[in-house]
Amino acid sequence: MQQRATITEQNRPALPRHVAIIMDGNGRWAAQRGLLRSEGHRAGVDAFERICEHAADLGIAHLTFYAFSAENWARPQGEVDALMALFRRQLSEAKRRRVENEQKRWRIRYIGDLQPGGLLPADILALVDEMQAESSMQDKTVVNLAINYGGQQEILQAVKQLAQACATGERDPASLTEQDIEAQLYTAGQPPPDLIIRPSGEQRLSNFLLWQSAYAEFWFSDILWPDFSTADFDQALADYAKRNRRYGGA
Ligand code: IPE
Ligand code: IPE
Ligand code: MG
Repeated sequence: MQQRATITEQNRPALPRHVAIIMDGNGRWAAQRGLLRSEGHRAGVDAFERICEHAADLGIAHLTFYAFSAENWARPQGEVDALMALFRRQLSEAKRRRVENEQKRWRIRYIGDLQPGGLLPADILALVDEMQAESSMQDKTVVNLAINYGGQQEILQAVKQLAQACATGERDPASLTEQDIEAQLYTAGQPPPDLIIRPSGEQRLSNFLLWQSAYAEFWFSDILWPDFSTADFDQALADYAKRNRRYGGA
């Protein structure tokens, strides 16, 4: 006899609390169309907005998008400048449209090496500071936008802070725990990603959320990021819901 599944609160396919996305493939998308790589990045911003909107509508509480890695500075200066111009434009738009942003169901915050005197231009850092200071997160999807981000660098700065606390005698090295490291990460206070999506055919982390991804589920696809649709996102969620997460248990 065939059994019919009834969807209840208990067995409802699990919605991830935190989805992280490596926005890759902008350059190849542009090349396929005979466009400049910078135009691929522009199309990538549209995909970013589309997925934020959709994920917030679904009620996903945390999103993290990889926008610019600590290693991406190695790209030709023209491309780096184009990417910085996009961040600058997005930040100034957000500043200009404060009232509209209040209506949105998601809020952007920035993660990465945002130290003054670092590699990010000072005017971008100033805009990030300004936006970060005033955005209220209440009841909104938190969108972490990773710029000048490296997972190893993030762990290193956490370790340095803890080492400093040990050097001053504020902390005892023997008492340090995983939670102490977590508390120093850029994502402190947020749950780790349940699902990491990488489009564009590459199957690697490229220094993204190394600590946080310890028990993340991965979803790869050949779609180039600017083409990534809400249906693709839904497919990733549907596949995620079928995974059996064991966390080392039997
Ligand atoms: C991702 O797209 C955006 C950034 C890394 C800034 P790419 O620019 O890496 O696109 P591909 O991988 O060359 O196609
Ligand atoms: C990872 O993509 C970084 C971002 C998407 C921001 P890359 O295109 O830089 O990664 P690799 O070089 O292919 O590993
Ligand atoms: Mg790439």
